[in-house]
Amino acid sequence: MGFRADLSENAGVPDDISPLSAAASEALFARAKAVTPGGVNSPVRAFNAVGGTPRFIREAKGAWLTDVDGNDYVDLICSWGPMLLGHAHPEVQAAVLEAVTRGTSYGTPTTPEVELAEEIVSRAPVEKVRFVSSGTEATMSAIRLARGFTGRDVILKFAGNYHGHVDSLLASAGSGLVTHAIPGTPGVPESSTELTVVLPYNDRAAVTAAFAEYQGRVACLITEASPGNMGVVPPEPGFNQFLSETCTSNGALFISDEVMTGFRASNQGQWGLDGKHEGWTPDLVTFGKVMGGGFPAAAFGGRADVMASLSPDGPVYQAGTLSGNPVATTAGLTTLRLATDEVYAHITEAADVVKAAIEESFTKAGLPHVIQSTGTMFSVFFTDRPVRNFDEAKTTDETAYKAFFHAMLDQGVYLPPSAYEAWFLSSAHDERAVAQIVEALPYAADVAAKAQSITGGE
Ligand SMILES: Cc1ncc(COP(=O)(O)O)c(C=O)c1O
Repeated sequence: MGFRADLSENAGVPDDISPLSAAASEALFARAKAVTPGGVNSPVRAFNAVGGTPRFIREAKGAWLTDVDGNDYVDLICSWGPMLLGHAHPEVQAAVLEAVTRGTSYGTPTTPEVELAEEIVSRAPVEKVRFVSSGTEATMSAIRLARGFTGRDVILKFAGNYHGHVDSLLASAGSGLVTHAIPGTPGVPESSTELTVVLPYNDRAAVTAAFAEYQGRVACLITEASPGNMGVVPPEPGFNQFLSETCTSNGALFISDEVMTGFRASNQGQWGLDGKHEGWTPDLVTFGKVMGGGFPAAAFGGRADVMASLSPDGPVYQAGTLSGNPVATTAGLTTLRLATDEVYAHITEAADVVKAAIEESFTKAGLPHVIQSTGTMFSVFFTDRPVRNFDEAKTTDETAYKAFFHAMLDQGVYLPPSAYEAWFLSSAHDERAVAQIVEALPYAADVAAKAQSITGGE
């Protein structure tokens, strides 16, 4: 490893950069829009927040994406978290190819799902896990289990925390601080959100008030272990511990959503960063992303007595045709076995170089910024004050981000096409990949600073 400390000193600021050719992506996007809503299968991919044409990726290797026009990009999305080891990792690839030769799905129990469950139980604060196919399914099932186990109906969540597109969790805060939520999207009936209460993140008083208001009715509180879906907004020191204790003393379950942070923020997820030393333990945890090794696999797990309520041991129903799929669990198992302390140390070191270069180039350009991190994850808010909750996240200057995003893209760096996302690196982000990011920053920061001043900024 050993990134050169002076990478950013090599960077000159070019006057102008011409856009990369996107003709083939544009043609595919037009075809896609004719047959798929918005031309994409998950909304953020459509570039609506930044404008322009999403690049259709033909292949990926290590830290690099290659689009259908033949342009190469350093990938800072990493499939929105899963690709901890980079793309097409040779050992993961070999394990998957070997698994495929033995068939791809049997609908029976298999060895890799047992081994993956053992691996997860050995690293995370859970005694038993059940596999599903997406993070959405994991949080939906965890909530059903919490309600079934406690015999209660109200759920608490935080604004700006995303737990997938579960009806009862696609909810916005109601008119009062602890009134029931309102649907966050058309298609979700009020009856689906009237048992959901949405609270401001990092706000202990709001949590206490909600438990008082719904005394004896709260089944669970679900929180991202460290939110990454409004950009990275870490819990204030002791906040998860406070949530865990408050849930326990009120007879509710504490669900820690580690779909994004699990095996990503650290080798034990966010719990490995603050849970162990602060002494909090979740009753249920949801996982996804990294544990699927780039395949559709996710899980929920927790205390053995709670998990015992799940079918077929207990009365709470939950099932899935492709749950624990042998190819997906092989990819996840191989990924987790390769996710050693050195992997996390490498990503941390690479992220530190990138963050230092952001700090330097944004400061030189006069661009307000706040970099927030949890473990290996970080994001940059285009604002001048620390962000502790969703309202504060929204002070980010979206116009400046849009300009920054395109200036980076034109220099071969693929950032998340939204100002409110975590940036992900992998163990494959080597010196060359990091140098490409660092060298692109000064020009992009200048472009963003100008866009900000045209619009008046924040
Ligand atoms: C914290 C968290 N929970 C749940 C989900 C939903 O996962 P999926 O997209 O696999 O349904 C996500 C997805 O980004 C997430 O970040």
